[in-house]
Amino acid sequence: MAKDITIGFLGCGNVGSGVWRLLEGFGADIEHRAGLRFNVKKVLVRSLTKARDIQFPDGVLTVNPDDVLNDPEIQIVVEFLGGEEPAYSLMLRALNAGKTVVTANKVAFALHWHELQKAAKTHGAGLYYEAAVCGAIPIIHSLEESLQANRIDKIYGIVNGTTNYILTRMSKNNEDYETVLRDAQQLGLAEPDPAADVEGLDAAYKLSILASLAFHGRVPFEDVYIEGITHVSAEDIRCGQELGYTLKLLAIGKRDGMNVETRVHPTFIRSDHPLANVSGSFNAVYLHGHACKEMMFLGRGAGDMPTASAIVSDLERAATTCQHKYPTFVNELNPKVALHNNTDWQCPFYIRVSAQDEPGVLSRIAKCFADECVSIAAVQQKGEQHNGRVTLVVITHIASEKAMQRAISALDSQIATLESIIRVEQE
Ligand SMILES: NC(=O)c1ccc[n+]([C@@H]2O[C@H](COP(=O)([O-])OP(=O)(O)OC[C@H]3O[C@@H](n4cnc5c(N)ncnc54)[C@H](OP(=O)(O)O)[C@@H]3O)[C@@H](O)[C@H]2O)c1
Repeated sequence: MAKDITIGFLGCGNVGSGVWRLLEGFGADIEHRAGLRFNVKKVLVRSLTKARDIQFPDGVLTVNPDDVLNDPEIQIVVEFLGGEEPAYSLMLRALNAGKTVVTANKVAFALHWHELQKAAKTHGAGLYYEAAVCGAIPIIHSLEESLQANRIDKIYGIVNGTTNYILTRMSKNNEDYETVLRDAQQLGLAEPDPAADVEGLDAAYKLSILASLAFHGRVPFEDVYIEGITHVSAEDIRCGQELGYTLKLLAIGKRDGMNVETRVHPTFIRSDHPLANVSGSFNAVYLHGHACKEMMFLGRGAGDMPTASAIVSDLERAATTCQHKYPTFVNELNPKVALHNNTDWQCPFYIRVSAQDEPGVLSRIAKCFADECVSIAAVQQKGEQHNGRVTLVVITHIASEKAMQRAISALDSQIATLESIIRVEQE
């Protein structure tokens, strides 16, 4: 005899429709295997007249959130509205009413995790968010459960499929950013307004969630350094390739004692690193734990069905858990414990400058760097002289971020002007 679980949706666009279809097409398997039958009683949308692919039974669609949140039969609320509001307020209301929440929303979750978890705990409700990071990849569950016996010191993610698609095409075909972005928009791989993806915000929300779980300490979104891919040029990608590097938008988290650094920016990684081969719209997370050592997760980070895969798995987990679990964070368990947000990280740098083609220029550039203890590992001239200037690519040894920035600002523009600076991970 299957157990009936009545659920309500907040939103039913791409992801919600995927969940509806997965429950419809795979519901019998879930019932047979887990003894659970999910019945979607109400679906909140913005418009009742919008054309939809799904034929909802009469009375299921509503534009009134109360129809979902005030219905005592609805035990689990699944949120796919997107954005901070009204998603956050509605999830909070559901939790305060003792309903378990399953969400795909990294924005509302990353910004209000603390308040949502507090409400869930107070009312004995569950809070599940596997789909909020990397779609189908079970990274949240792995961090919360399977990797608990580890002190994770590094986590690297390719967590945004749009930017990975753009960088992959720029790398493979030597195409420029604007052309590939336009194509990605036509193919539906980039939003009409791509800012959240290409400016790195989407990856930063996800990194704040991943780093908090990996390091057992809450890492607020505001602490994540963010730099997107809008200024990336095909020339830098090509120069990097000649040096054995591949460019990725990496979400990087590191913990050393109480120091935590979290940053999202274009990063050169060695072309033989497993992350360098993660192409197109795929997502991946690579981490290192003191016991598990290196590990990599790879899969589809977006799309209706891959995301639905994570949501429906969360639904099943939520429905079969006797007592919901909540992650703990050192800096919340003990208010005296503070994690230090390290903004002066150390790494090698790739620097491309346009320099005056005359004797002594290189030594003047080297002096600006040496004055800040930045030592140069290699210098290459790229191409021929043009209007008295040449392009130089400099690779530094490991240096501090702040020292590097000071060295750059000390460059005399008559001698050399900065064209680009890209951080390198030597992992
Ligand atoms: N798309 C993906 O591949 C993907 C992957 C992982 C996670 N996510 C996350 O999943 C969430 C949903 O994404 P999506 O692509 O499915 O979005 P979407 O296609 O834009 O769907 C949003 C849904 O929410 C409804 N909605 C929005 N604002 C509302 C409001 N104020 N009141 C009532 N209904 C409202 C819309 O109603 P109408 O139908 O009437 O317009 C629509 O059904 C987001 O948090 C996103 O970050 C998406």
